[in-house]
Amino acid sequence: QTMLDHSPKLDLTQLDRLHDQSILSAAQFDLPLMREIMKLAAYMQLRKFESGHALEDKILAAAFFEPSTRTRLSFESAMLHVGGKTLSVADAKTTGVAKGESMRDIGQMFNSYADVVVMRHTAQESVQDLCEYLRIPLINGGNGSDEHPTQALADWYALMKWRPEIAFGKLPEKFRLNIGIIGTPGNMRTVKSFLTLALLFHENINHITIFSEMADPLGDEIREMTNSSPITIDFSRNLEQSLEYLDVIYMNAIAFLGDGYRFLGDAFSLSNQSQLKPDTVILHPLARGPELSTDLDATQHNLYFNQADGAVWLRQALLIAIFGRVRHVVPREFIA
Ligand code: CP
Repeated sequence: QTMLDHSPKLDLTQLDRLHDQSILSAAQFDLPLMREIMKLAAYMQLRKFESGHALEDKILAAAFFEPSTRTRLSFESAMLHVGGKTLSVADAKTTGVAKGESMRDIGQMFNSYADVVVMRHTAQESVQDLCEYLRIPLINGGNGSDEHPTQALADWYALMKWRPEIAFGKLPEKFRLNIGIIGTPGNMRTVKSFLTLALLFHENINHITIFSEMADPLGDEIREMTNSSPITIDFSRNLEQSLEYLDVIYMNAIAFLGDGYRFLGDAFSLSNQSQLKPDTVILHPLARGPELSTDLDATQHNLYFNQADGAVWLRQALLIAIFGRVRHVVPREFIA
């Protein structure tokens, strides 16, 4: 059963909450909104709903002042799929930023040239700075070590296609998920955003183990968030010992720590020699390092390529909701 079998009709009152909105943080999403955005993506991906002209009058500016493969290209691909057009900054050195141009002036230009902006920037405060001057929605494509909300939505979209009951049912206690997160939510944006959304599924998550060599992988902000969650969160430095109970393993290779990238190396690594349960799935936002062996690519544990592939559909759904065009792609009989 897919999530669409569980809940076939779209609740537009939820999707309308995204109309004209910026997406800056995973914390903007609650469970009812998550369900509907995932279903809209699934309708386009799995049921091939016609959406080829939905945004033909819209322009997306992809402003990437920090390197990216998947986020920029999947947003551009998403926009092109729904008939929109794209403008792209793939390298900060090719813009006025290299000459010290201010966010105020950059924002004014985006207002004139585009209808939505996706920005990645090394500075955490960049999204708030730009928002002050923008009159069009901004999507945070990764701001320093803070957040990467649409990556987390793509992560959970992959998990909902894998096991839709996570969001659309209640798993019996013995099937509730045990999730392992390799990384530090306190300073890794993908990990923080993934964990933020994970807390929404507390009815179906048994516990979360964070694997890190850091003394305090959470930091104050995340600790406050997790303290108020019913999910048990613990910490470990021994991945091998935990593999026998983990259903989902979320890995990452790269942390952005303000002064530059740090590669985590292979302190916690997986290969086809790892003693994974037969049905364990691995998520990784990519790019990968030595922690994730390519010999897992051809196994049933690989959900990471599905995660990257689904990101296009998830981002397509977000753009359609932001522009208030859901009714353009969803036939009336599928609307609640
Ligand atoms: N997952 C992700 O953010 O990948 P990119 O850095 O290639 O955009």
